[in-house]
Amino acid sequence: MKCILISGSPRKGNTEFVLSEIFKGIKGEKEFVLLKELKFNHCKGCCACYKTGECVIDDDMKLLFNKLLWADVIILGSPLYYGNVSGLTKQFIDRTIPAYESKSLKDKYLISIVVGGGKVTVTEKFHKQSIEGFIKFNLLNLIGLYNFEAFEDDDLKKDPNSKEQINNIIKNINSL
Ligand SMILES: Cc1cc2nc3c(=O)[nH]c(=O)nc-3n(C[C@H](O)[C@H](O)[C@H](O)COP(=O)(O)O)c2cc1C
Repeated sequence: MKCILISGSPRKGNTEFVLSEIFKGIKGEKEFVLLKELKFNHCKGCCACYKTGECVIDDDMKLLFNKLLWADVIILGSPLYYGNVSGLTKQFIDRTIPAYESKSLKDKYLISIVVGGGKVTVTEKFHKQSIEGFIKFNLLNLIGLYNFEAFEDDDLKKDPNSKEQINNIIKNINSL
């Protein structure tokens, strides 16, 4: 299995911690991308990609888009901001729109992870709403939706319960 892990947090915090632990634990070919390190613009809404299947913007998203095509499993992590994924994550999601018409991400496995400062039951509700369109439009195969509760940047690192949940995610991926 070829896995791409994508972190949409602007800080070195909980999302990055969870994804880096998963990265260490999974087998096979793997790539870890921190969106905060990429130079990529927001979608400008020209819809040219609806006809051509390609984005007109020449930036780091070109490389990342090719990595998405390469991967069998997409592991996307984001903090919860105002009941949604972070702006960085949304910017990434919007820039995958060239895959919509071509259905080039169809049937790829998706594991979605969100860290919120509040209770996981609340985070889960917002999480599902935030990524529903990304999954439906791209016909992705969601195989895991995980929620974590953490506020300070090192909360999950210090939380023994998070280790168990991270191990479950690793098991899920390694059993594919
Ligand atoms: C702009 C902003 C908005 C936030 N909104 C929410 C929210 O709506 N719900 C919530 O539970 N936590 C919210 N938080 C808390 C973060 O989700 C929390 O600090 C989380 O641990 C951040 O993940 P990270 O460490 O990976 O960056 C917000 C934090 C920021 C900075």
